[in-house]
Amino acid sequence: MQAISVQSAQGQYDIHVGDALLQGVGVGIVKRIPKARVAVLVMDQSIAQTWAREVAVSLEAAGLRVVTHVVVASEENKSIAQVEKVWRRMLTERVQRSDVLCAMGGGIVGDMAAFAASTYMRGIATVMLPTTLLAMVDAAIGGKTAVNLPMSSDALDTSVNSGGAKNSQQSLPTNLTNNVTNNLAKNMAGTICAPAWVVSDVRTLSTLSAREFRCGLAECVKHALLADEPMLSWLEKNREGLRAMDPARLVELVHRSASVKATIVSRDEQEHGERAHLNLGHTFAHAIESLLHEQVHHGEAVSIGLVAMAAASQAAGWWPDADKFQLSKRLADLGLPIKVPAAVDRAQLKNAMKLDKKGQSGAIRLVLLKGIGHPGVLDAASEQVIHAGLDAIGA
Ligand code: GLY
Repeated sequence: MQAISVQSAQGQYDIHVGDALLQGVGVGIVKRIPKARVAVLVMDQSIAQTWAREVAVSLEAAGLRVVTHVVVASEENKSIAQVEKVWRRMLTERVQRSDVLCAMGGGIVGDMAAFAASTYMRGIATVMLPTTLLAMVDAAIGGKTAVNLPMSSDALDTSVNSGGAKNSQQSLPTNLTNNVTNNLAKNMAGTICAPAWVVSDVRTLSTLSAREFRCGLAECVKHALLADEPMLSWLEKNREGLRAMDPARLVELVHRSASVKATIVSRDEQEHGERAHLNLGHTFAHAIESLLHEQVHHGEAVSIGLVAMAAASQAAGWWPDADKFQLSKRLADLGLPIKVPAAVDRAQLKNAMKLDKKGQSGAIRLVLLKGIGHPGVLDAASEQVIHAGLDAIGA
């Protein structure tokens, strides 16, 4: 299958999607980064003895010295302390600017390891080796790297503030804050630094739990909504094949979905405009996640958030026949949740939405649809629009 090309300020890079690509990683790195002598392989513990071994063998066979570093993937470990461990390891191993770091795992390990690479000696090359569906279609593409920062409880005060008064909530740089969960301000420190190469081997999805696979599917639906109707129909038509983990269908799924993100980030790497469309449904989703983080995984929150988004789009008059589209049914057919799984306090949810993507005056900013493939940003969503979204998800 053809490589997906991504444009970035640092030059063009390729995304390769396929079945059994890992054994070619070493040769591919030597071709792309010929001066590299050392490959630092930062990996999620859960794949350390399996897929990561294959990569290590391939790197060694290509003549690279391999330095391995294992990380337990958790939001707590997406931290500057773990980044420092990677930096120190690279220093001890005398890793040079011309060397390469391979970030292998899901979004947590990928974001943290790529942040370490983008800052060590002011930046060394990164190769992304995503092993979850979510990372293959989203996190590994576009060069965003990040760690979470701990937040003190007073900064977490989400008391209602619509009047623009100066308080702790207002002091948050909200354009950086994706959400706040478990006293962690997510993705609060980071860089945008393009990888040198992205390799998505769909075989690695065979060891992913069904739940995590479905979480990735929610991001694929999001990309389909941003792209076009045929992509959504394809998803529905191939539902069974995807459930059975048919490799050819998985390759096509990742290729189609990664292409949507690649097109957007190629046009707007620094998120001056269009890249924000990738937050479709995410203002609702992040708020749900921040309140129900023990019950809801990110992809599940995205699925519920998309349902709210469709209702809000209709209420805003942007997508008058959104209900005819039956997004809830389509998501449910893919095994995704469409309602909040537990009672939530609506006022708290709204406060969390304000904390997520607050406009200048404390308003809630939503990415909505005017139809499939036609997203836009509503800067200050009205109460009626927000409530329509929350009604639709039983919040
Ligand atoms: N996941 C959203 C973005 O990369 O911009």
